[in-house]
Amino acid sequence: MTHKILVLPGDGIGPEIVAEAIKVLNVFTAEGSLSVEMEYANIGGAGYDAEGSPYPASTQTLAKAADAILLGAVGGPQYDNLDRPLRPERGLLAIRSDLELFANLRPAILYEALASASTLKPEVVANLDLMIVRELTGGIYFGKPRGIDVMENGERKGYNTLVYSEPEIDRIARVAFETAMKRNKRLCSVDKANVLEVSELWREVVERVGKEYPAVELSHMYVDNAAMQLVRSPKQFDVMVTTNMFGDILSDAAAMLTGSIGMLPSASLNASACGLYEPIHGSAPDIAGQGAANPLATILSVAMLLRYSLNKGELAERIEVAVKKVLAEGIRTGDIYTEGCRKVGTAEMGDAVVAA
Ligand code: NAI
Ligand code: MG
Repeated sequence: MTHKILVLPGDGIGPEIVAEAIKVLNVFTAEGSLSVEMEYANIGGAGYDAEGSPYPASTQTLAKAADAILLGAVGGPQYDNLDRPLRPERGLLAIRSDLELFANLRPAILYEALASASTLKPEVVANLDLMIVRELTGGIYFGKPRGIDVMENGERKGYNTLVYSEPEIDRIARVAFETAMKRNKRLCSVDKANVLEVSELWREVVERVGKEYPAVELSHMYVDNAAMQLVRSPKQFDVMVTTNMFGDILSDAAAMLTGSIGMLPSASLNASACGLYEPIHGSAPDIAGQGAANPLATILSVAMLLRYSLNKGELAERIEVAVKKVLAEGIRTGDIYTEGCRKVGTAEMGDAVVAA
């Protein structure tokens, strides 16, 4: 079976890191363990420059036909003065909502060789490997009504609406349980059910879906406690599922437990298992074009792509093992460099993973 992969390099370091990820993918196509058809298209500033839109119609057409999408990063200071609808970041929001990518999977993995990169004590984070499943297309970021109104007395009020429908909760819960089934069968659902009615519904629906996954050990936690537990004892978690805003905050906190922005991949999935895979970092304009960026987050995004959209878990694992090996050998890009290691550039890091 030939899989259609759409590649969106984007801006800044995007093209450099994506090139390394493609090198890794090509290892599998060359040996015959994978058959892919790759298309390239523009997004973000690159889309604006070439076609006048951060999410051009031509890109949209290819995205809708793809089995999986690999994205580098978007954005850069040269686009800061554009009208909001033309800014690179709008391209990212547009493709997410266009493809209904409602499930955002963000792993936080601490690689043993990088243990000293975390700000937490080594024993607290050693071997940390958790996955946050964040709802991405609903909740307070999208709820209506929203706005800033002037009241009769002249004072202003701002408001947003936190709303989730039962089907929205149901589908993200299913992704979370499926994810837990592929891992260690433990799921913690994070809400604020002691205060919010919408959280009450969330909890009820997650419980109901959970009945279909008796093998998964389900627990619930209030979000304030979850924030505390993440920094106190993060290894108690395996998979966490939560709403858009809680997930935004908790996943950034969890990512930083590992101390390295250049290492973390992400997946955004929809109901048909088509997914968008990208590193969590941005376009790093400060180091773009220098061949200095760390491609590992993008390479690990390819591993997620193989696992979640192409059902090639064994190939994903080979990438993850190779990355660990390269790190254990002391090979480092600048962002993760420590004394005594061998400092390499973007392409050399990609080559090292290919070799491993
Ligand atoms: P950033 O993640 O691009 O960079 C933050 C810092 O981390 C910089 O010092 C950068 O050099 C470093 N860094 C990031 N990725 C790295 C890598 N792979 N290897 C080595 N060092 C790396 O965030 P920043 O500076 O806030 O944003 C820059 C641009 O990226 C902005 O236009 C922003 O809107 C955009 N952005 C795009 C995202 C996306 O495409 N998903 C996400 C976040 C920001
Ligand atoms: Mg965030």
